[in-house]
Amino acid sequence: MNPSSYSFSPQLIQALETARSVVVLTGAGISAESGVPTFRGADGLWNDYRVEEIATPEAFARNSEFVWDWYNYRRKLVWECRPNPAHEVVALLEKRYPGFLLVTQNVDGLHRRAGSRKIIEIHGNLFRLRCTRDPDHRHDHPPENSSTTPTCPTCGAPGRPDIVWFGEALDPEDIDRSMEAVTSSDVTLVIGTSGVVYPVASLPMLARRSGARVVLLNLEPTEHVAVAHDFIQGPAGQTMTALARELGLPE
Ligand code: OAD
Repeated sequence: MNPSSYSFSPQLIQALETARSVVVLTGAGISAESGVPTFRGADGLWNDYRVEEIATPEAFARNSEFVWDWYNYRRKLVWECRPNPAHEVVALLEKRYPGFLLVTQNVDGLHRRAGSRKIIEIHGNLFRLRCTRDPDHRHDHPPENSSTTPTCPTCGAPGRPDIVWFGEALDPEDIDRSMEAVTSSDVTLVIGTSGVVYPVASLPMLARRSGARVVLLNLEPTEHVAVAHDFIQGPAGQTMTALARELGLPE
């Protein structure tokens, strides 16, 4: 299919044309066409790696060098990827709507590289380092720094990836801001997420209950299909390009 093959309901187009406040919620699927592997599904990362050996505080306490090795490997892979048209359309939507927030579960930094600025990286970012002693010490962590024992530039304590691991709480301020934004949104777009990791997975339902039009864009129906007013099936690079054309966003 090419972008002109997708069709959108008149209600959806009208909602997007009249909206003042839009929230975009993204997951690993939006970066799939950039070459970043997703987590679940046939080629998902969690098929090849055990979550509990990598993405937990216990794993880091047990063997921080092993965990750093894995994150350095991923940082290198992701750095070589580039944003795709779906990331670019999300960045254009930010310019179009006076009220806009992007809530991404992705840690790959591709939304920022595509120009998004009103963004909450709710699961963290691969290219930041967090201090193990003082979580307020956060620093850029460039891809060329591949030490397996990096230290906090502020205080010298051991550094860890600035990622929210399984069993850890999300930043309460990030959750509050995300909930407020979906609650007051006219339209919430949910792109490329399986919708199984909470609390983020509850945001589409909150949007719907608060009166927003909820739009699901995914390769396949997910947990959120019952919550959504519209389901646009296809690769996000194509469906988002088609939507951008429909709205007359600059190419
Ligand atoms: P998943 O891997 O669980 O889901 C990816 C979703 O993207 C699936 O629903 C796919 O159908 C869809 N998808 C794949 N390719 C696509 C494409 N080209 N266009 C559109 N959709 C596509 O990833 P997430 O939902 O992001 O946590 O996973 C949530 C969290 O679980 C992640 O943030 C990560 C993981 O463990 C942390 O890193 C803390």
